[in-house]
Amino acid sequence: MPIVNRIADFHKDLAAWRHELHAHPETAFEEEGTADFVARRLQEFGVEVHRGLAGTGVVGTLKGSRPGARAIGLRADMDALHIHERTGVDYASQNPGKMHACGHDGHTTMLLGAARYLAETRNFAGTVHFIFQPAEENEGGGRVMVQEGLFEKFPVEAVFGMHNWPGMPVGKFALRTGPMMASFDIFEITVKGKGTHAALPHLGVDPVVAAAQIAMGLQTIASRSIHPLDSAVVSVTQIHGGDTWNVIPDEVVLRGTARSFKPELQDAIEAGIRRIAEGIAAAMGASVTVRYERRYPPTVNSAAETEIAAAAAAEVAGETNVDRELTPTMGSEDFAFMLQAKPGAYLFIGNGGGRNGPSLHNPHYDFNDEILPIGASYWARLVERVLAPAA
Ligand code: NI
Repeated sequence: MPIVNRIADFHKDLAAWRHELHAHPETAFEEEGTADFVARRLQEFGVEVHRGLAGTGVVGTLKGSRPGARAIGLRADMDALHIHERTGVDYASQNPGKMHACGHDGHTTMLLGAARYLAETRNFAGTVHFIFQPAEENEGGGRVMVQEGLFEKFPVEAVFGMHNWPGMPVGKFALRTGPMMASFDIFEITVKGKGTHAALPHLGVDPVVAAAQIAMGLQTIASRSIHPLDSAVVSVTQIHGGDTWNVIPDEVVLRGTARSFKPELQDAIEAGIRRIAEGIAAAMGASVTVRYERRYPPTVNSAAETEIAAAAAAEVAGETNVDRELTPTMGSEDFAFMLQAKPGAYLFIGNGGGRNGPSLHNPHYDFNDEILPIGASYWARLVERVLAPAA
């Protein structure tokens, strides 16, 4: 595989940085040590460092050796998860209950590797902004960076992102034009009944039975009210209510998530949840309050940038190792907010591990050090390709 040789030469450094980050995971908007680490490395390479966007965000700015007005952004996420690590590796998390279980330690390292190489070679015309964002998991650090003026302060014509994918072989890349990952919405339904003695149900209104029917009813949204060729998921993931054997409680709370690829489906799902929850509750003499919140939009790749990203990946991995027609996933990604603001492309890099290996967000998962120079080479080639000096 034609890894950029200079990057292959410092593979050991990349692995050491990754292990350092892995041992000190930090979660949403608390990535102080991680941001310090990133800023120090960038400064060592001679990259201009800007801090403070979204609190712990770091942006490194580097100009090529040739003049040029064009600029692109490359983005990596820095945050960890609330998971207790069980890998047993010698660089395992030293922060109990926190873990780099999604490989953001590897993403940060690959982008640092590209920054080091590009700062040494500067074989491009124009400007590259290395964007290190906080809080990808749940809290939308990418959205906050965009809201706080990321692209006004650092104007770019396009922005690119990358995520490792366990189960996809090492040396492979995958992406697609259009929706690549789903929107991420959450909902909470509070079912209010009237508590009573469990032996005297006729004296109350049972929110447990109403909640059970609502949970079942919600399954008809995707199956009965969305076009069969559209994709939608409505998952009830929590049901909370009651404290003991012989009391029918006043109230039960259901929570869950909805996923889709189109804003009109988000509208339809929200309307369906309200209609079904209110209708079933009313039929049973109970009442509901429904909260529906849109967290992340779908992650949508633009056509021209997808082509450019695929070509850069093919240069590193070989044409046959780039899947340009990936089946989208119902997972979600807050890089979506950057892709709402700018054209760009997001791709997956194979992390290996086979089909039965630990998945993302699993306590046994670990980013694969073998792919560090592959991903860094992709970033480097992408910059040298998009910002190629005029002949
Ligand atoms: Ni992730």
